[in-house]
Amino acid sequence: MTDLICKSRYGRRNFIKLCMGAVTAGHLRQSIAAENSEVKKYNQVELVDFYKKPITTKSLEIGRNYIFHYPFVTTPCFLIDLGEPIRERVSLKTENGGNYTWHGGVGPNSSIVAFSAICAHKMTHPAKAVSFINYRHGTINYQDKNMKSKEGSRVIYCCSEKSVYDVKRGAEVLGGPAKQPLTTIMLEYDQSSDRLYAVGTTGGELYSKFFETFLERLQLEYLTTEVNRLVDKNTELVLLEKFSKSQMRC
Ligand code: FES
Repeated sequence: MTDLICKSRYGRRNFIKLCMGAVTAGHLRQSIAAENSEVKKYNQVELVDFYKKPITTKSLEIGRNYIFHYPFVTTPCFLIDLGEPIRERVSLKTENGGNYTWHGGVGPNSSIVAFSAICAHKMTHPAKAVSFINYRHGTINYQDKNMKSKEGSRVIYCCSEKSVYDVKRGAEVLGGPAKQPLTTIMLEYDQSSDRLYAVGTTGGELYSKFFETFLERLQLEYLTTEVNRLVDKNTELVLLEKFSKSQMRC
């Protein structure tokens, strides 16, 4: 039952119908915490387009690099439809030694995943002018943790110091100086409407340090003094190439 909660492969309404006969909503929340002590709930936020029309999974292009902001108005995240079911559970560790379990993809094919786009090394992230970190669907060469040359696909690559994250395994670090996976953004999928929602995070968060380090630039770029305001109700999903004018590929 917990698997249903965390992976949200089933519509929320269908899921609640399934569960309500047996347990209360309060018990459902406790089940999440028991399964994964690192789950942090934020606002439930719907993914929408520029016109505030809900994004449906049918409209996503496989292998494209989408951006949305969550849980704060200035913190970018990647959303990717990998085009294949990702159902493997992966045990991961934060830099501080915390354990958590990544539960794979959501959506009708369990193929949609989301991660914070803030690199776990020195917090490189997509900005409106340029992005040094991006998703690579096809095969690339990289150096693993032992500096051996490797080939891989479906990875997030940070060109700043070449940290590489395995998107199929919860953004586990494959190479480079990053000490923990990218923060997982927890998604819910509503099967009846085909819509997607962000609902929380798992893994190590870097948000406080991010605001401290980039405060002035974020204020200028997002035209707000409230850089740590939580996103509410909905968040726009855009292609990375539309969000960042240029992308560094390395
Ligand atoms: S900031 Fe990404 S590898 Fe250093």
